[in-house]
Amino acid sequence: MRVTTSDLAARKKRGEKWAMLTAYDSMVANILDGAAIPVLLVGDSAGNNFLGEENTIPVTVDELISLSRAVVRGSQSAMVVADFPFGSYESGPELALATGIRFFKEAKVQAVKLEGGAKVVPQIQALIAAGIPVMGHLGLTPQSVHALGGFKVQGRGADGERIKADARALAAAGVFAIVLELVPAELAAEITAELSIPIIGIGAGKDTDAQVLVWTDLMGLTVGAPKFSKAYLDGRALITEAAKRWAKDVTSGEFPGADQTFH
Ligand code: KIV
Repeated sequence: MRVTTSDLAARKKRGEKWAMLTAYDSMVANILDGAAIPVLLVGDSAGNNFLGEENTIPVTVDELISLSRAVVRGSQSAMVVADFPFGSYESGPELALATGIRFFKEAKVQAVKLEGGAKVVPQIQALIAAGIPVMGHLGLTPQSVHALGGFKVQGRGADGERIKADARALAAAGVFAIVLELVPAELAAEITAELSIPIIGIGAGKDTDAQVLVWTDLMGLTVGAPKFSKAYLDGRALITEAAKRWAKDVTSGEFPGADQTFH
């Protein structure tokens, strides 16, 4: 049985914090699921962290469906949430619903996430009416990076009221959780205290109900990881070292050894 939206709501009631990580393939999903990470997000951050793009904007629905299907196949207990990529929901509820149906039928995810506040409420309502749980995303919304003028902290000063109003609008529309990205810790704390749904922070201080990180940032694989992330492993150094050791053994004739040889 996978983690459900009710499980996450119950964690908020109990004051129990939880962790969400991105995953883009079945092997990593299997490892993170085994580590009891309750929610795996197939983020459109796959664009820059998996597909070699400059940012999230070029990512397509077909690409994310394929990655989401892999994450669902690789996991057993985690709730798998698929991100709606840029261009797959903005024009209105019909497009959003068509995208949600594809993610549900083709990738078999348990929920979807989309960026934006009050302006995407009609899309959220159409998805929820069809039985598709929706996670919101406010603050720094990377698909709007050009409109926002870069990856900057959002919601400082009076702008905080706009984010609060958007959070209330999303909660009223029925989202089961909201990601708050790169906002002042005080603002995130106020929204977390006011709303009854879980607030998931990334660069939003320590008072949110949950935290999310990009898995490649956590494992020290990303070059130029954002300041709000923290590497718990020097993954690049470990992989580089293993690749070099193996290549050296190949050139010296030590690999393959007897154990890897068949007669
Ligand atoms: O795409 C993504 O990985 C995200 C998280 C950073 C929240 O949206």
